[in-house]
Amino acid sequence: MARFVKTPEEIALLREGGRRLAGILQRVAGAVAPGVRTRELDALAEQLIRKAGGKPSFKGYKGRGKIPYPAALCTSVNDALVHGIPTDYVLKDGDIIGLDIGMVWKGLYTDTAVTVPAGNIEKRTRELLWATRESLDAGIARVREGAALGDIGHAIQQYLEKHGFGVIRELVGHGVGYAVHEEPEIPNWGTIGTGMRLKEGMIIALEPMASIGSPDIALDADGWTWKTKNGQNTAHFEHTLAVLKDGAEILTFV
Ligand code: MF3
Ligand code: CO
Ligand code: CO
Repeated sequence: MARFVKTPEEIALLREGGRRLAGILQRVAGAVAPGVRTRELDALAEQLIRKAGGKPSFKGYKGRGKIPYPAALCTSVNDALVHGIPTDYVLKDGDIIGLDIGMVWKGLYTDTAVTVPAGNIEKRTRELLWATRESLDAGIARVREGAALGDIGHAIQQYLEKHGFGVIRELVGHGVGYAVHEEPEIPNWGTIGTGMRLKEGMIIALEPMASIGSPDIALDADGWTWKTKNGQNTAHFEHTLAVLKDGAEILTFV
């Protein structure tokens, strides 16, 4: 566990890389509109990552499967939750899109995501985006040296369920810094006081994922995209954080 604690020098690089990556995600999110192809968003993301002196960490990433991820950005539309592959799909009014981006900068990895609307979206979908974003803050508020992973999961789950949304169970947050995914796994549900305890200097990515109605998801035939079984909209927000003695520092912050 101790090996996952980063030095102040490493955290300084993560902070600078995270700040750049957050700015890039903001630019890409700003380009979302009806009429835009998801492939165009990916091209913009990759161009901005390279201009920032970084490398897209998702491109070529294998995860647990055999198919390397082909893009710099994950574009997950409507019932697609995460890991959607950019295509020629043209966004239409009323769509929502999850944008997840990762960069290696001076050897260190950061990871951040938002879900944003294209045009005008339905009321319950608007509430889903808002509640998922807020649940990330509820989780971040629990982060500090000595906190248990279950404290974080509990806070996220409570927040989402209080607002009537489902918590996705198949995918979790994670440690980060020297790889796309490091230990530990950080579930978006849990019981207070259970699980590993955080140490100052750990770098973690929290990423609540929520659905309207049933949280059951299935992997698409493309080998990457996770979608809800009932076809309902889902949302995902993510920040990379440093664990401090008394709280958290959001590293993917502009
Ligand atoms: N960014 C994702 C996460 O938050 C992982 C994406 S891997 C990819 O954990 F290959 F799909 F890009
Ligand atoms: Co991510
Ligand atoms: Co992540």
